[in-house]
Amino acid sequence: MKQDTTKKLQKLYEKNVMNTYGTPAVLFVRGGGVNLYDANRRKYLDFSSGISVCNLGHCHPAVTEAICRQAQTLVHVSNLFLNENSPRLAELIVKKTFGKGRVFFCNSGAEANEGLIKLARKWGNATGRNEIVAMENSFHGRTLATLAATGRSKYREGFNPDMPGFKFAKFNDLKSVKKAIGPKTCAVILEAVQGEGGILPADEEFVKGLDKLCKEKDILLMFDEVQCGMGRTGTLCAWQGYGVKPDAFSFAKAIANGIPMGAFVCNERLSGVLTPGTHGNTFGGNALATAASLAVFETIYKDKLLDNAKEMGAYLRGKLEKFIGKYDFVKEVRGRGLMLGVVLDFPAKDILPILREKGLVALSAGEVVLRLLPPLIVKREDCDKAVRIIGAAFKEYSASKGGRK
Ligand SMILES: Cc1ncc(COP(=O)(O)O)c(C=O)c1O
Repeated sequence: MKQDTTKKLQKLYEKNVMNTYGTPAVLFVRGGGVNLYDANRRKYLDFSSGISVCNLGHCHPAVTEAICRQAQTLVHVSNLFLNENSPRLAELIVKKTFGKGRVFFCNSGAEANEGLIKLARKWGNATGRNEIVAMENSFHGRTLATLAATGRSKYREGFNPDMPGFKFAKFNDLKSVKKAIGPKTCAVILEAVQGEGGILPADEEFVKGLDKLCKEKDILLMFDEVQCGMGRTGTLCAWQGYGVKPDAFSFAKAIANGIPMGAFVCNERLSGVLTPGTHGNTFGGNALATAASLAVFETIYKDKLLDNAKEMGAYLRGKLEKFIGKYDFVKEVRGRGLMLGVVLDFPAKDILPILREKGLVALSAGEVVLRLLPPLIVKREDCDKAVRIIGAAFKEYSASKGGRK
């Protein structure tokens, strides 16, 4: 009966929804904590968190309570008026990051990064500089400016011409960044851990060198924290784990645990760059999204989830590393905190249906990386279960390839 519902909805989807994702394989109808349930009431351990969005797990009671309360009180009044939550949330974000600065609220990661780009151009244009150096293999979003800043060219194909004003440098190669910087460069943008690119963390030396270089040349250093932020790597922002202070960064995805929301944040010296009328949107920072986000921030600190992300990240990583000697096709485990990648020597998307069939929802990244983004509330027994399923999936894959190691 429920199988029919899935098939029926897949058909409806195929007929009516633009075909940019392919047809989704599973109909999920409920979530709670680390688990998801499909239309047949089958339980799955979710190590994808809706692509680093539900970092507190599904339907976290504090977030659900905040959403329900706010939905019954006031949802939206536009940015022409004040709501009770957005100034409080902005104060909290500034306090936990720059100490002093400003926040702009928006609705997605791409929009947050567009904001960073506009901020950098507005600041740079005052001194005749408007070029931004981005990293090869990066991903910053699907709007035209964020696509132009995205190093992975496959996302840009067919949408030319690229918006001008971007240069690319090799990730983790300071010399290459120095080469890409010219007299018109106003900013450098990067992910501290490249997500879509294959869970590739920036080297400490590279980030520190970049920080120094940007300061010497009076260039803005900007981090895209859309995937690696909100505690995923064990610090609120991934850049905080590198001991540097950038000029600005973006948040989205997990900022409201599933309610669409983004933000970009700048330090004190950039606080006056965007003035009334220079930037805006309709929904950004509305009462509902900011209520959810306040609950997210409160829970992260109350439940010490940053410590848990570090501890569980190290635990999971240790367990995953044991597959390296066991199977030749497992090449490396990399990442930071609970943003982990298992590098394989075959397309990672081939293992995902096997994992799912055994009850684990995971992701791929790059071409050959099995991407694991468990919620920050994950416990040891969840990690043990995930590792058991991954082990069984690797065994099955190996058998299907004639026992190849
Ligand atoms: C690092 C990074 N930046 C930006 C984005 C775009 O975010 P959104 O899909 O919310 O526009 C993503 C999405 O995966 C991302 O991983």
